[in-house]
Amino acid sequence: MGSLAMLLLVLFFSQGQSSLPDVEKRSTCGQCDERLFCNCSSRNYRRVPTVTVTKVVTLDLSFNDITTVAEDDLREYTWLQTLDLRSNRIKSIHEWAFHLLQGLESLDLSYNQLAALTPAWFSKLLSLQHLNLLGNCYRTLGPGGTLSLFRYVTCKAGSQNAPKSQSSMYVMPCPTSHLLTQLEYLDLSGNLLTDLTLTESLCHGDGTLRNLRVLNVSDNALKSLSLISKLVTRLDKLVHLDISQNGYTSMPPTCSWPQTLTHLNVSGAKLRRVSPCLPLTLEILDLGHNDLTAFHSVALPALRELHLSGNKLMHLPPGWLFPSLEVLLIQSNTLNMFGPVDLQLYRRLRALQAGQNRFVCSCEFVYFMVWRWGGAVEGSVELTDRWDNYLCDSPLPLQGQRVDRVRLSPFQCHRILLVSALCGCTLAAGTLFVILLWKLHAVWYLRMMWAWLKAKRKAGNQRRRDAAGNAEPLCYDAFVSYSEQDAEWVEEFLVPELENSQPPLSLCLHKRDFLPGHWIIDNIINAMERSRRTLFVLSEHFVHSEWCRYGFILSCLTTIREYFSSCLRRRREEAAAAY
Ligand SMILES: *[C@@H]1O[C@H](CO)[C@@H](O)[C@H](O)[C@H]1NC(C)=O
Ligand SMILES: *[C@@H]1O[C@H](CO)[C@@H](O)[C@H](O)[C@H]1NC(C)=O
Ligand SMILES: *[C@@H]1O[C@H](CO)[C@@H](O)[C@H](O)[C@H]1NC(C)=O
Repeated sequence: MGSLAMLLLVLFFSQGQSSLPDVEKRSTCGQCDERLFCNCSSRNYRRVPTVTVTKVVTLDLSFNDITTVAEDDLREYTWLQTLDLRSNRIKSIHEWAFHLLQGLESLDLSYNQLAALTPAWFSKLLSLQHLNLLGNCYRTLGPGGTLSLFRYVTCKAGSQNAPKSQSSMYVMPCPTSHLLTQLEYLDLSGNLLTDLTLTESLCHGDGTLRNLRVLNVSDNALKSLSLISKLVTRLDKLVHLDISQNGYTSMPPTCSWPQTLTHLNVSGAKLRRVSPCLPLTLEILDLGHNDLTAFHSVALPALRELHLSGNKLMHLPPGWLFPSLEVLLIQSNTLNMFGPVDLQLYRRLRALQAGQNRFVCSCEFVYFMVWRWGGAVEGSVELTDRWDNYLCDSPLPLQGQRVDRVRLSPFQCHRILLVSALCGCTLAAGTLFVILLWKLHAVWYLRMMWAWLKAKRKAGNQRRRDAAGNAEPLCYDAFVSYSEQDAEWVEEFLVPELENSQPPLSLCLHKRDFLPGHWIIDNIINAMERSRRTLFVLSEHFVHSEWCRYGFILSCLTTIREYFSSCLRRRREEAAAAY
């Protein structure tokens, strides 16, 4: 790099002094006011004019056609504090042109055609605080010793209107940096700096430029975050580092930064992930317009302002990572929603900008937004972007609608509640119905109905069998249905009495004649069908006995069914018995 500096210096000596001062008569500028401010701007002067007053403090010579500043041109301006020479066509300045301006605080030489800087210009400017050198075509700041007096330097390659590709690359060689010991602000933005050339300018990170507070290398071609952190780590007054709009694609797991760094701007790069490389001392961090998909697991205890707009985040970063955060900008990401719980974790948050996201307008989200910021409550967090940035992305019918104007029906919002209530009611009604059925012996009636229907079918089959000639004869004269409590009377009195009568009757008794292993209802029906009559022993016990009652009602049904059809047959049989 040393050889590069030498090369550039050679260029400077061969080109810088080539033009000769124009021989031009000096005009007089009369535009001075009582504050000793002479406004000689935009008057086509080709040389520095004289003025009509003495002790001028501010001289504005911007936007003229001055091409050279000669040794004596500024002789009468010894009281000058501000000299504005921007946007002329200055190619050369005499080495001693500024030597009498010992009170000059601000010098603007931007947008001229200076090819190089001569340190001797500045050697007597002991009060100079602001120097603007933007928009010249210099190759190097030169080797002079007095640059160490400057406190504010802005250096940019190219002229005002030239596109960046046409401008020459600006390199500040390390030996020059060594001279800038008082420099507090260095703006090298909008150049074609690479990691290599910046390493040269910052002298491999050896702590040259030790008073630097602000370093702006925005909009260059830098690629390595780990390198820039190494280059600045010994600048122990650095407060603000702007490395935005560079080609950073990843963050190393760890980095070392100066302890003073509070502002870091890494926006407009291509970072996909954050890592603990971020300095813990940060108060303002701009990671906007990267490709971040998540921001978690990196805690920044001192952070007050976090810029995350223009990424691909789907959730708010967890608030507990940033206990001091006051401002959060997270517009134009892919957030679906956020809610009270997310915000609660940000204990100090005052301002939030979260518009232009992919909001899912669920009832929960819409209610939260309207309740929180719809004017009803005075919250501590303010939405600082306007409501027309908050649009629903889904569901489809709401797409494009402003979140605060969405109207959702109670059915949409309380669907689960309503469905649960409906289910509950149905269940209760069902239970009630079942209890009612049980109380009214419905099961009993149903079973009986079923048995009756079965019997009816069986009777039909029997008739078919009858038609085929396999007639099944009636076996008993009567089926006796009685309650177990009346068994004694039935078995000891009724049965002997009937079975020993003349002619003797054959009786069907459940104890004696039912087929074991068959369902009791089948047995009852069978018995009734195979008997001419059914005899019920109606007693109080009978009424309370389920099976007896069952037989009784079955027989009623059967009787009603068969009453008409059997009427004739029975008459015939009775008549035959009478003969
Ligand atoms: C100086 O004069 C120019 C043109 O005459 C004008 O545009 C400019 O505003 C003036 N500046 C001040 C500070 O008055
Ligand atoms: C750095 O330079 C860019 C572009 O010139 C400018 O927008 C930005 O504000 C500067 N940053 C700082 C911290 O001065
Ligand atoms: C970061 O840099 C970008 C681009 O240079 C600029 O627009 C933005 O305002 C800066 N951020 C902060 C917080 O200064």
